[in-house]
Amino acid sequence: MDAASLFILSLGGSVLLLALAPAAPGTQGSWIIGGKAVTPHSRPYIASIQVDGEHVCGGFLVWPKWVMTAAHCLIPRRNPSVRVVLGAHKLEEPEASQQVFSIEESIAHPCYNPQSVDNDIRLLKLNGSATLNEYVKRIRLPLPHVDLKPGTVCRVIGWGDTSNYGEHPTQLMETKTTIIKRNLCRTLWKGHVSTNMLCAASRNATLQGVCTGDSGGPLVFKAKVYGIVSFSGERCGDRRYPDIYTKISNYISWVLHTVRGHRSCKEQCKH
Ligand SMILES: *[C@@H]1O[C@H](CO)[C@@H](O)[C@H](O)[C@H]1NC(C)=O
Ligand SMILES: *[C@@H]1O[C@H](CO)[C@@H](O)[C@H](O)[C@H]1NC(C)=O
Repeated sequence: MDAASLFILSLGGSVLLLALAPAAPGTQGSWIIGGKAVTPHSRPYIASIQVDGEHVCGGFLVWPKWVMTAAHCLIPRRNPSVRVVLGAHKLEEPEASQQVFSIEESIAHPCYNPQSVDNDIRLLKLNGSATLNEYVKRIRLPLPHVDLKPGTVCRVIGWGDTSNYGEHPTQLMETKTTIIKRNLCRTLWKGHVSTNMLCAASRNATLQGVCTGDSGGPLVFKAKVYGIVSFSGERCGDRRYPDIYTKISNYISWVLHTVRGHRSCKEQCKH
């Protein structure tokens, strides 16, 4: 692809660089551009996935032991350099609200395709249950197969870059983004948009959207998470190439099946 090359919006960590296959139709990783800092801890489901202390991808807590992120964030399990941080606002500062986990299981969707970036969804099982409190809460998933109507204004949240020049935010950022008709999006992206994807872009003329490091983060509407940040155009915030999100409602049965299938012996005996 030309200018429309696909950018997957994760950063850093050599494990993640494997995701940058040259054939990929865009960039892996995305960032919040043209956004603003959120009120601290007002998005208590957000997770920062870190390799050697560096934020590489976003995610969100869906059950006390499970974080959802993008499959293209190639997060290995049981790797001592990988951590999931919940309850954070300023990643660079020691915050008493933070809860830190390692990853027991990292399960990408079996049909994830790194070339087309279709089925870009991954579940991470934490090494323990998060303590739910005012700083750490889960976010609800949508009902199976619901779609968001074009024109729906959502929010996207992350610690990804705040400019096209690799500037990192000091606080958790958020921007509004509007759902675009899938057919129009497919045309703009010259076909790279499947029915498993949601498209959204800013209505404003200014650069706004996701950028490197936002990958895996949530697209939220009315207290439910509908999308996972998947890829964007080469220039973050470029309205000619809407941001692409994994459409979570298409994966509800896979998610439930996966979570049930990975209960420990002890957990299974409780039920
Ligand atoms: C989970 O892993 C983190 C990071 O290694 C560690 O600090 C924490 O004690 C572990 N929690 C449990 C319940 O094992
Ligand atoms: C457009 O930008 C204005 C000012 O920056 C902001 O208040 C507004 O929320 C933005 N609208 C959307 C849909 O992003």
